[in-house]
Amino acid sequence: MGLLTGKVAIVTGAGRGLGAAHARRLAEEGALVVVNDLGRDENGAFTAGHVAASICEAGGQAIAHTEDISSMQGAESLLHSALDAFGRVDILINNAGILRDKSFVKLEENDWDAVLKVNLKSMYAVTRPVFAWMKENGGGVIVNTSSPSGLVGNFGQSNYAASKAGAWGLSNVLAIEGVRFGIRVWTLVPTAVSALTAPLMDAEMQTQLAPEHVAEVLLYMVSELSGTRTGHCLFASGHSVRELKLVSAEGVPGAGLDPDFSAQRLAQAEDRLFRAEPALTVMDFAK
Ligand SMILES: NC(=O)c1ccc[n+]([C@@H]2O[C@H](COP(=O)([O-])OP(=O)(O)OC[C@H]3O[C@@H](n4cnc5c(N)ncnc54)[C@H](O)[C@@H]3O)[C@@H](O)[C@H]2O)c1
Repeated sequence: MGLLTGKVAIVTGAGRGLGAAHARRLAEEGALVVVNDLGRDENGAFTAGHVAASICEAGGQAIAHTEDISSMQGAESLLHSALDAFGRVDILINNAGILRDKSFVKLEENDWDAVLKVNLKSMYAVTRPVFAWMKENGGGVIVNTSSPSGLVGNFGQSNYAASKAGAWGLSNVLAIEGVRFGIRVWTLVPTAVSALTAPLMDAEMQTQLAPEHVAEVLLYMVSELSGTRTGHCLFASGHSVRELKLVSAEGVPGAGLDPDFSAQRLAQAEDRLFRAEPALTVMDFAK
């Protein structure tokens, strides 16, 4: 028996990279997987088809879904595909994402809209019908993929970071709304070698940061191994796995409690205003 025997999982953007590693790992543990991706290889074949076929060749069960999940119709068809093929859905991995990096002033409206549409609107569009189904059918687990860039910022990624911070915000709300229906919701903040980052890494680093290391963390998140845990945000790479949390400094009493409150007083109390846990930078995540 695998950890996910009989469970049905949907993984978006699973034709390559992290999504493909997630789909394969879940299938190895017995999950029946809907592999979504609109991407094609150099011969024009859908990459989702290759991943689904490789899962089946390895003895698992998977189908390919090749629609654009940033459209409402494409997103909603994912649930129907899962129900038609496997009769239920227990796990949803919102993984699909794109980049269109430009420094902020050079960022055109279409760069903003495209990234927000794929990275964030698709989470709404895919999750809403799945969440509704899980609510009526005993619960499930949802993982939304964020990014270090979304939590601490990165040069040239205002559109991407806004979408990925949105993923974290969405997870926080869905975790609250899902509790009474047995729906657990996580945020995953990965770092792994990808089509974009591979040329920047030597062979050793590529091995250390293989997507499969992140997929093992994902398995913990979606299986019974994590019990009833929900609402957490986990950073995961081959170098480190840890929870990320918002931190708050001690602060000072506001004007409603302190008659002497003023902007000048705030300037004098900066050690209590700003002294929270050390802030991480994007570079810290790579260590
Ligand atoms: N690789 C990293 O280090 C890293 C770091 C932080 C966050 N992430 C996030 O992890 C996720 C996966 O990253 P990756 O590195 O594997 O990227 P990737 O580009 O290798 O894979 C993303 C996949 O999503 C698919 N996709 C894009 N738009 C789609 C759409 N509208 N409908 C269906 N599929 C679509 C693409 O075809 C692609 O196969 C992304 O959300 C990314 O932002 C990755």
